Amino acid sequence: MQKKGYMLIGNWKMYMSTYEARAWLESHTKNLATTLKGSGHSLVLCPSFDALFLVQQFLKDSSIEYGAQDCSEHIQGAYTGQVSAQSLQDLGCSYGIIGHSEVRQFHAETSDIVAQKMVRLLEHAITPIICIGESHQDYLNGKAQEHIKKQLKPIERALTSYKKSANLIIAYEPIWSIGTGIVPEVNYLESIFEFINSLTASWPKTTTFKLLYGGSVNEKSSIQLKNIAALDGFLVGKASTDPKKLSDMLKLL
Ligand code: PGA
Repeated sequence: MQKKGYMLIGNWKMYMSTYEARAWLESHTKNLATTLKGSGHSLVLCPSFDALFLVQQFLKDSSIEYGAQDCSEHIQGAYTGQVSAQSLQDLGCSYGIIGHSEVRQFHAETSDIVAQKMVRLLEHAITPIICIGESHQDYLNGKAQEHIKKQLKPIERALTSYKKSANLIIAYEPIWSIGTGIVPEVNYLESIFEFINSLTASWPKTTTFKLLYGGSVNEKSSIQLKNIAALDGFLVGKASTDPKKLSDMLKLL
């Protein structure tokens, strides 16, 4: 059987300062690019906004891609503290994470706003990485699917009016597994992926997407989950700041 190529997206969150990110890039990008080469996988790093200029320099001729952790739903104007999709494009970003549960929680981001951000990114030829996933409470109450359906509805509406072709990444990240060391059972993930695929069946035919899992992914948990047929890769938080773990994942997957 041919080896499957996985997409690994590193979400560095706010783990590193600008100087720390520079030191990291200086020390590890060459080795990681060498490991990546011939692995059949792809690797995307998403540092905080301040380090995007740095990754642009460091990854200019590299097979490692990069993206941002968020973007504004607005095009331009008086939006203090926000960063536009245009700026992300200027900085060479290929990807943009939107709808991360930490942004939904700490910045009151709604699913309608996530859908607007998605359109902004698509307009600037940046692949949106749309994060979805239920709380522990919804999980315990058997309401995960209901929650996911609500999160994806505005996305479907926005895609329908967008009309052009759209390549997306959907990252299923149950909130109860982010940073907790708890990874869902394979069966559970399979049922959720099946559900997501059933919802997207009515999306415009011009839309394609990859399906990723995120939440406490590391070199061990990724191996446990890798055989899930619908899985295209992983959104990796904390472990993506550890070059050894990233490189192990590239080798072992
Ligand atoms: P984690 O975070 O891998 O540290 O659990 C994942 C995420 O929030 O994207």
